[in-house]
Amino acid sequence: MSAKPRGHRRILVTSALPYSNGPIHLGHLFENIQTDIWVRFQRLVGNHCTYVCAEDAHGTATMLKAEEEGMTPEEWGESMRASHAADFAGFHIAHDNFYSTHSDENRHYSELIFGRLQEKGHIFTEEVEQLYDPEQGLFLADRHVRGGCPRCGAADQPGDNCDACGATYDATELSEPRSVLSGTAPILKASLHYFVDLAKSEEYLKSWTRSGTVQPEVANKLAEWLDEGLKPWDVSRDAPYFGFEIPGAQGKYFYVWMDAPIGYMASFKDYCTRSGLEFDEFWRPDSDCEVHHFIGKDIINFHALFWPAVLAGADFRTPTRVHTHGFITVGGARMSKSRGTFINASTYLEHLDPEYLRYYFATKLSPNTDDIDINFDDFVQRVNSDLVGKIVNIASRCAGFLHRHFDSMLAPTLHDRRLWQEVSGARERLGGLYDAGDVSRAVREITSLADMANRYIDDHAPWRLIKEPDRASDVQDICSMGINLFRAMALYLKPILPGFAERTEAFLDVAPMTWEDAAQPLVDHRIGRFRPLIRRIDRKAVDRVVEASKEQEPAPKESKAEQALIGIDDFAKVDLRVARIVEALPVKGADRLLKLTLDVGDHRREVFSGIKEAYDPESLVGRHAIVVANLAPRRMRFGTSEGMVLAAGPGGSEIFLVTPDDGAIPGMEVR
Ligand code: MSP
Ligand code: ZN
Repeated sequence: MSAKPRGHRRILVTSALPYSNGPIHLGHLFENIQTDIWVRFQRLVGNHCTYVCAEDAHGTATMLKAEEEGMTPEEWGESMRASHAADFAGFHIAHDNFYSTHSDENRHYSELIFGRLQEKGHIFTEEVEQLYDPEQGLFLADRHVRGGCPRCGAADQPGDNCDACGATYDATELSEPRSVLSGTAPILKASLHYFVDLAKSEEYLKSWTRSGTVQPEVANKLAEWLDEGLKPWDVSRDAPYFGFEIPGAQGKYFYVWMDAPIGYMASFKDYCTRSGLEFDEFWRPDSDCEVHHFIGKDIINFHALFWPAVLAGADFRTPTRVHTHGFITVGGARMSKSRGTFINASTYLEHLDPEYLRYYFATKLSPNTDDIDINFDDFVQRVNSDLVGKIVNIASRCAGFLHRHFDSMLAPTLHDRRLWQEVSGARERLGGLYDAGDVSRAVREITSLADMANRYIDDHAPWRLIKEPDRASDVQDICSMGINLFRAMALYLKPILPGFAERTEAFLDVAPMTWEDAAQPLVDHRIGRFRPLIRRIDRKAVDRVVEASKEQEPAPKESKAEQALIGIDDFAKVDLRVARIVEALPVKGADRLLKLTLDVGDHRREVFSGIKEAYDPESLVGRHAIVVANLAPRRMRFGTSEGMVLAAGPGGSEIFLVTPDDGAIPGMEVR
């Protein structure tokens, strides 16, 4: 890493820009908490560290999403920007700026960079034939096409690779392709595209990726790609598209991934106008400032191939380091909406303290790119037994004696200098671990320091000494020692737990702690009143988060052979009734759901139904439907669903309500 001494580095740090088409979830939080811990550590040791992020507002996905919500893409992007910024702030993420890629600064730098690439011969154009949805008037991205796999023939496969046999292919190779946007068969249509000629940057990238800029396993992955040779990168998209129009190319836009990383620069530029920092000092080719990007492993190619190629090609500096992390899984599986493990930031915050998650993620943070598995029992256990049980416990064990018997005064000298040396001296090693991103090891070492501190208190048993008149004064020494050990630990955890550290500073009545404060003990000092610094997690609150995160998801389709036969008795258990739809309303925050009020003859009930993409709510009012009347009520994020309405079809816009013939009356049994 940098040879500069601590306190002299000038660093710009980023987390990947979240897309505007969805809420902030555990995965984004992991990344931003990881980054924030690193940033806070750098600041604590006196380095000058700026942390920026932004909303990734462009692209087809945002455009379609905005349309669905009845907003302009600008309005939608801005509302998501505000809600994402609030989510991150709720987790104490200390972004200096949370901007948007849809900004004047970003347009400026995107045009500048693209222009320089053009001047230097890195850009060429070529006619490309692509699948086009004539009904929607849109060229289709890979994820918007499905069809038969060209290799194994499996039906209904995505446009880039086959779920059945793993083949990768071009969307144009699918048999019987179908647009997922309209359900119609796409046609082939030609259009002019702009490409970055990445082959020109191969030699540069080969040395860049081997110069300590990425983790070793990432360098190996990149070497594979580089050895295969880099294909030209298509950086243009046709109208309609939400983004920046390419200068001199009417109806052509920069592909979202072209201007997204430039959004890091744009966010920083905007911050410069407020902070007095000099943009060029950070971004000129010979800059001695550092630039660090934190990303997930799905976007390595964009950050460690395309981005440095684009920057170097346009005469800007390249990143000092790209820090890549793995993916969050829950109980060994991908986050799932039906299991309630796809947890959004806002749902979590309704029930739990953000610092619990920061601490838990810290126990999982390593410098490698392995996936990170989350387990709710482990989460509760780590926080309750380690953080509260071991660390906070030191303070509560000692503070009471000092308040009651010694006027809250800490002793003038340290009772056990050797133990203090050990704990105080740990700051060097712990600092190295934080800087290298090995936070889980730092936490383990802090926890074992806490074990030592607790053993010290147990060995000296102040609760016994206080009853012996001639030993009572020792109690002040022992408890002061305990408070000093606790103070060092709270300081060591400060990058992870800023709120806890702040409450500790108030309790100790000290100025905001910096890393080197661990060199000096706190003696002959009056501490403030003890207050709960962090509470134990209530396991039930965790269950509530999971419950609130559950959303009905279509069950995975079973093959015919797997479907077990049922007898007439099984079928008879299902109470099907005719219902009349009295009211149909959209559900805020759920794209697929409608809230239906049903008249079932003798009473009314509310049912949530995933038919929004297929039906205009108003058109449903007055219509008859069939409801499963004896389905156990299901609590969902938006309310309780009292039953289920029958519908046919694969889902999305292809859903067809099952309706009885004219003459059926609400409440009638269906047999
Ligand atoms: N908009 C792009 C990034 C542009 S950066 C110039 C993007 N957005 S994203 O919202 O899909 O992802 C943002 C970050 O969150 C990425 O680094 C991604 O790897 C990370 N994560 C998204 N889901 C994740 C998990 N389940 N686990 C860990 N991180 C994951 O990609
Ligand atoms: Zn296949």
